[in-house]
Amino acid sequence: MSSEPIVSIQGISKTYASGLQALKKVDLDIRRGEIFALLGPNGAGKTTLISIVCGIVNATTGVVVADGHDIVRDYRAARAKIGLVPQELHTDAFESVIATVTFSRGLFGLAPNPAHVEKVLRDLSLWEKRDSKVMTLSGGMKRRVLIAKALAHEPRILFLDEPTAGVDVELRHDMWQMVRRLRENGTTIILTTHYIEEAEDMADRIGVIRKGELILVEDKAALMKKLGKKQLSLSLQTPLQQIPAELAALPLELSASGDTLTYTFDTQTDETGIAELLRCLGAHGIDFKDLHSSQSSLEDIFVSLVRGAA
Ligand SMILES: Nc1ncnc2c1ncn2[C@@H]1O[C@H](COP(=O)(O)OP(=O)(O)OP(=O)(O)O)[C@@H](O)[C@H]1O
Ligand SMILES: [Mg+2]
Repeated sequence: MSSEPIVSIQGISKTYASGLQALKKVDLDIRRGEIFALLGPNGAGKTTLISIVCGIVNATTGVVVADGHDIVRDYRAARAKIGLVPQELHTDAFESVIATVTFSRGLFGLAPNPAHVEKVLRDLSLWEKRDSKVMTLSGGMKRRVLIAKALAHEPRILFLDEPTAGVDVELRHDMWQMVRRLRENGTTIILTTHYIEEAEDMADRIGVIRKGELILVEDKAALMKKLGKKQLSLSLQTPLQQIPAELAALPLELSASGDTLTYTFDTQTDETGIAELLRCLGAHGIDFKDLHSSQSSLEDIFVSLVRGAA
């Protein structure tokens, strides 16, 4: 992987005509060949950022370079490298699927390539629908048509703005498969999502955006390790009324039913304190019949981040 970023975003701010500042000095480098997930609540600025990189919205300040091309000075060259699957569904309702995808390729001045169009449609399970008018398709199929359109000109960089909103679970997994295949073929992918599991499953790196500020960018694995907490749950032999006073100092929680103790510890520290915990429990005659540990999900991390920074 080249160390040169494929997309370099520097000091991007956006104030809409309404006066609303949607982005505040965002700096972000996208690495060649990665899957980058942009997470953030509604209105955080995700679509604005993507729209700027794709040349649909003008930044108020800042510079974006896409695969070596300044997106303003060298718009056409930059845009040719980029595929965009927009968040809003708007398709050419009266066209057939194959015509609209073929047309999208033509927009970039590329020679027709029916084999490529066929491959894209097959990959997206749209080949059977190729002669159907877009308006007759279901919502999930229309979204796939948008993806096919975005891939028609063989972009190096693909932006997916909430690609799986309104797509059923099975299809969502098919789409993730397809995104992974694209990445294996060298396409860099930037996606926004509200489904944390999507980021958790797919992304190499994660950026969290909140009120127009990029508050965090991190490797997914490092993020989960750094912010992740582990929990040890102990199913008790005999339910407790309350946690004995001698154990009150430990990070323990007793379930409402009194039959499960949950011990929370940091995955970062060398000393988990579990040995001490078990010794204390033994000393107080608290027996357990079962125990299991779990790691906090990216969702927990995300919620605490967005809340914590509020
Ligand atoms: N054309 C526009 N004119 C004025 N304000 C806008 C415009 N587009 C977006 N905004 C505002 O900019 C802010 C960021 O919007 P944006 O669409 O980028 O958020 P988002 O993170 O994509 O949200 P969502 O998760 O809901 O898609 C919001 O407050 C929104 O109302
Ligand atoms: Mg959006």
